[in-house]
Amino acid sequence: CGIVGYLGDRPAYPMLIQGLRRLEYRGYDSAGVALVHENGTLDVFKSKGKVADLERATQGQDVSGTIGIAHTRWATHGEPNDANAHPHYSQSKTLAIIHNGIIENYNVLREMLRNHDYTFQSDTDTEVLVQLIEYIKQTNHCDLCTAVQLALHEVVGAYAIAVIEKENPDLIVAARKSSPLVIGIRGNERFLASDATPIIEHTKEVVYLNDEEVAVIRRNEPLQVVSLDNVVKPLHIKMLEMNISQLEKGGFPHFMLKEIYEQPRTIIDCIRGRINPEGTDVILSGVRDHQDKFLKAGRIIIVACGTSWHAGLIGEHLIEELCRIPVEVEYASEFRYRNPVIRPNDIVITLSQSGETADTLAAVELARNSGAFIYGICNVIGSSIARATDSGSYIHVGPEIGVASTKAFTGQVTVLIMLALSVAKLKKSISPELYTTMLHDLQQIPQLMERVLKLDTEICDLAKIFTYAHNFIYLGRGYNYPVALEGALKLKEISYIHAEGYPAAEMKHGPIALIDSEMPVVAIATADSVYEKTISNIQEIKARRGKVIAIVTEGNEDVRKMVDYVIEIPRVDERLIPLVVSLPLQMLAYHIAVNKNRDVDRPRNLAKSVTVE
Ligand code: G6P
Repeated sequence: CGIVGYLGDRPAYPMLIQGLRRLEYRGYDSAGVALVHENGTLDVFKSKGKVADLERATQGQDVSGTIGIAHTRWATHGEPNDANAHPHYSQSKTLAIIHNGIIENYNVLREMLRNHDYTFQSDTDTEVLVQLIEYIKQTNHCDLCTAVQLALHEVVGAYAIAVIEKENPDLIVAARKSSPLVIGIRGNERFLASDATPIIEHTKEVVYLNDEEVAVIRRNEPLQVVSLDNVVKPLHIKMLEMNISQLEKGGFPHFMLKEIYEQPRTIIDCIRGRINPEGTDVILSGVRDHQDKFLKAGRIIIVACGTSWHAGLIGEHLIEELCRIPVEVEYASEFRYRNPVIRPNDIVITLSQSGETADTLAAVELARNSGAFIYGICNVIGSSIARATDSGSYIHVGPEIGVASTKAFTGQVTVLIMLALSVAKLKKSISPELYTTMLHDLQQIPQLMERVLKLDTEICDLAKIFTYAHNFIYLGRGYNYPVALEGALKLKEISYIHAEGYPAAEMKHGPIALIDSEMPVVAIATADSVYEKTISNIQEIKARRGKVIAIVTEGNEDVRKMVDYVIEIPRVDERLIPLVVSLPLQMLAYHIAVNKNRDVDRPRNLAKSVTVE
């Protein structure tokens, strides 16, 4: 989502629209603007769709005023539609808010407000927050800034917000926690945004808000930053040095690299609110609300395409091992045309980042006629597949712009881990010890990913050695076999080098004929239940003079002696290794593609969302 705000001496509306356009690269499904006019009225205009749709909606309306806030929304709670778009009014329409982030305890707050006769126009957590601010302002007879501070004390979750009020064309109150917010300063003008891209064309002087800080932006007064407890904070004015295209990518040269680096954060977003505060229990609401379906399931069929299909293969291992329910994984394009047997007590799980893949959607429709329960795991809220399924879970990793999927893959695997744990607990098919270990390790994943990202320089050097290889083989066993497939797919997609993923032991049934000193083999040999077996497979390759890059668990000296190059990853429960081991493979593919000067974010012939057969 994107936030823009303006307070100054020029008309706010054109400035806000231009700012929203600058944020379009982030992906969004609706847009809106709120303005306080000179005569002390507050108007909100919003619409589903593009910024151009918003402009159409404001045609002939009063868009005057020199103060306003605007937003592009990428749905997290509630479908993309006009009502759920931001800004949101408070009940009496005296306040308007825009918000990025997720208010985790919005249900509790909404109930409390309902008991005080508040009604809600949308399904969003954001509307709850603005109502809470109004309620506090009215009951405490305090000013807007105090009401925002008090309200934020009640909130659990992440936010970047901006609030304006009717009859006060001179004030914007903004605040942040775990979601970025930047304020640009030029003379008496103030520009507010969720990242610096809308600001840079106006000024290079900016202040980045820190967590739990509130910015009080008053007309013709110096900017003030205070804590939630109203302690004045020092202002650190920074000078922007990046151009717009660098800024869009958060300083990274490509969206793909930015998205690789986002993964520690997106895993936190994905598990947020699903694991209890003590970290001892996990439940997906989609599973909780349909417990009987999962308890009675005769079989689970996972249907997907591309990278999502690879995540599905990991799901198969997890669900069969932990829940003891038979699982089949199908390519959606094959499934839909082969008259498959689907029984009423089967569960069909579809995985799709975009939620729009034509083959996957057709598979859902086919399953619908069989009477099976259909569970969707998507990233894009309100997407066609999300709407067509009976229940499901979003992966909440934010818009993925790079065509080659990275953070969506690890988000899908994370949801599948939480799903398998939720169902296994219901079925009592998992030991309490394993449940506790996996849950503990899952919460460590973001930190472990941070450590793995530090291997970037090492992997960049390795990539130089292999940039001119014509073929690659990726090997893994068990949980790492689908990771090998995904590693090979990443390389193919963005570097155009031919690569194949294989279950390590299958090598000897054919592909081993390809091995010679020219053939690089990426072998995943982490500490897991099939480690010894994988080592034997590596020896078979070395005996034929293949070049082996092994990915091992930290401290493994044995493999180092055996192979040509080693990448070490931290130790973690074997069922969670895919989440960690995927990152070096993404980075390897990325650096090779960059060395070959490929169009990393938009590889030839590929589309992000394939809405045709
Ligand atoms: C396209 C994309 C892939 C993606 C696949 C499935 O081919 O290029 O990256 O894995 O579609 O997309 P979905 O949105 O259904 O996950």
